[in-house]
Amino acid sequence: MQNRINKLPKIELHSHLEGTIKPKLALQISMRNAVSLSNNLFNDNGDYAWSDFASFLTAYDSVSSCLRLGKDYRDITYEYLKDCASENVIYAETFISPDHAAECGISYDDMISGIAKGIDDAEHDFGIVGRIIVTCVRHLGPQQGLNVVQTMVDNPHPYIVGFGMGGDENAFTLNDFAPVFNKAADAGYPCTVHAGELCGPESVWDAINFLPISRVGHGVKSIHDEKLLDELFNRNIHLEICPGSNLALSVFTDWNSHPLPTFIAKGISVSLNSDDPPFFHTSVGLEYLNSAKHMHISTKTLKSISLMAMEASFADPETKSSLMNKIKEF
Ligand code: ADE
Ligand code: ZN
Repeated sequence: MQNRINKLPKIELHSHLEGTIKPKLALQISMRNAVSLSNNLFNDNGDYAWSDFASFLTAYDSVSSCLRLGKDYRDITYEYLKDCASENVIYAETFISPDHAAECGISYDDMISGIAKGIDDAEHDFGIVGRIIVTCVRHLGPQQGLNVVQTMVDNPHPYIVGFGMGGDENAFTLNDFAPVFNKAADAGYPCTVHAGELCGPESVWDAINFLPISRVGHGVKSIHDEKLLDELFNRNIHLEICPGSNLALSVFTDWNSHPLPTFIAKGISVSLNSDDPPFFHTSVGLEYLNSAKHMHISTKTLKSISLMAMEASFADPETKSSLMNKIKEF
């Protein structure tokens, strides 16, 4: 069974590019850029050191600070997509954060062209298709969000397929970000937003009531509200599920309490994702394997998860249908 799951074509809809940088690559890039990384970024095992959501976000910012050039973005994109392809991920949409690039003095154009080169090189070498979702950072506020979305709208690129937001769910309200998301949607960009990861079901209600979104990042806290589950199903809102991240961040205490099987039983559209792989010691392949092992999700259902994910992706119709066919052929 494990062998069959390894071979199954997989889709990633929820990863943060800066959060995919492995410790070894962060060290390499920081050395060539002569940037010193924070002393307490690593633990004795050489893994990223963090203990809760706040310290995770600090570590994430600290890793991102090693980036200085478009080439750095090319390399982190290429390495991430290479790892994905080795697990038969055939399509990966990754969140990118122009705020983190700006903090390092990298222009939007340099960041996007570096990432696009990484996507092209990875597709050439491994056949994987990569796409970009531009994100703003919630705790930096709606005004900064407006700057990010305006920059995206003014600088279209064929690989930029959507808009989203991560960051601290406790900062501001989602309604505060309605003008930001409306600007993206009005310009034709489909949207997703992190909600219901740390905050309760009301945050998912806010997301679907106030923002023009078709997907929710995590949304796992919806499990506590039966009416919300019906609403997600009826409105075909897709949940980007990241079980390894949820367990690492203690959103749930163990596999038995993870709501993925209930979402599937309710017919809600879901995908399986890595979020920030080296921080949470995970990968898309591991998420599929662990869901089978610990939550008894069958290979047939995992295949339907790949199909649901591709259907919910922000890829153009031709890319979508050709990759859906690849999954169906399995
Ligand atoms: N940024 C990177 N990872 C995140 C997560 N899991 N939740 C919110 N923002 C993030
Ligand atoms: Zn995330």
